[in-house]
Amino acid sequence: MAPPLPLIVLLMIHGVSGADWSVSYSPSHICALKDSTVIMRCTYTYPTGHQIMEVFWTKTPVKDNGEYPDLSKDPEYSQRLQYLGDKQQNCTVRLSHVTLKDSHMYYFRFTTDKDKWIGKSGVTLTVTDLQVESPERVTEGDSVNLRCKSSCALTDRATFIWYKNSQPLTERRDRNNELLLQSVRREDSGRYSCAVDGHTHISPDVQLNVMYPPRSVSVLMSGSGVIVEGDSVTLNCISDSNPPALNFSWFKGGTIVGSGRIYNISKISSDDSGEYKCKSINEHGEKYSDNVTLNVMCEPICVFYPHQY
Ligand SMILES: *[C@@H]1O[C@H](CO)[C@@H](O)[C@H](O)[C@H]1NC(C)=O
Ligand SMILES: *[C@@H]1O[C@H](CO)[C@@H](O)[C@H](O)[C@H]1NC(C)=O
Ligand SMILES: *[C@@H]1O[C@H](CO)[C@@H](O)[C@H](O)[C@H]1NC(C)=O
Ligand SMILES: *[C@@H]1O[C@H](CO)[C@@H](O)[C@H](O)[C@H]1NC(C)=O
Repeated sequence: MAPPLPLIVLLMIHGVSGADWSVSYSPSHICALKDSTVIMRCTYTYPTGHQIMEVFWTKTPVKDNGEYPDLSKDPEYSQRLQYLGDKQQNCTVRLSHVTLKDSHMYYFRFTTDKDKWIGKSGVTLTVTDLQVESPERVTEGDSVNLRCKSSCALTDRATFIWYKNSQPLTERRDRNNELLLQSVRREDSGRYSCAVDGHTHISPDVQLNVMYPPRSVSVLMSGSGVIVEGDSVTLNCISDSNPPALNFSWFKGGTIVGSGRIYNISKISSDDSGEYKCKSINEHGEKYSDNVTLNVMCEPICVFYPHQY
């Protein structure tokens, strides 16, 4: 059952003229980094015999009056939008310095002397910034993964760069968008940010605060040299820890004699001679200082001075 001849002829004519109304976008979804330049690739066709009058991009499908606004006339876009296409088949456009507000659907619109057309499927542009994602609490020795996060998937070719205290970490280029700090040390504390190679946008800083137990605990004694009976002596427990230690204990020999960062002995007596040390405690651990020796001199002989702590 062959179709009647006129239909075949009709199909052939249509085929030769080749042309129908169409707009195609490739790709149809774009994930772009803030401040970057985006190229929206686009091609279009229309029936032969038509003459192109107007070509432009728009982002609002329909306005009240049924007209599509030309983006290049929009002050928010006019400086940044450049039409790279032609009046035949290429409708590629470039948008530079994209902002988060540019995240939108964009359409190509054209009119001929006889009719008009819009590429309804549109290009979806998503603009993302970068955010460093890091655990809130980190203790020395933990393995820490910092992630450079974007709200949409950037291309696989994106190379991430990490900064610590604004200095690039040249030696670190870990798994795609992650920075792995194995067995984190207190020296790893600092402000971290990330960027994508070849782009100006940098994420805000995120503070990595590595907690650690007290260390370098020492006793600082007021005054210097000779301690004479009746003197007041202040012992200060100095330690380095994160968070700072708030809990201290004092020992004379093996016996606990006090608490608090400062240990005062007013009106010292010869009984107070001995080896003192302090212990500094935070939630991650504790550490003792070395002994300090208090050697109370008596002039001319030792008498008993009662004292209160
Ligand atoms: C359309 O124009 C752009 C910019 O000049 C070019 O990069 C692209 O290859 C062209 N596309 C086609 C299909 O000709
Ligand atoms: C200080 O540490 C000691 C020993 O770990 C503990 O018993 C005490 O409750 C702590 N005191 C404070 C105020 O945290
Ligand atoms: C500190 O003094 C105590 C009591 O005299 C002693 O048992 C301990 O061994 C001393 N520690 C150090 C580190 O010298
Ligand atoms: C320790 O003595 C010093 C100096 O006499 C004084 O300023 C301080 O308040 C005293 N601290 C304590 C905890 O008694």
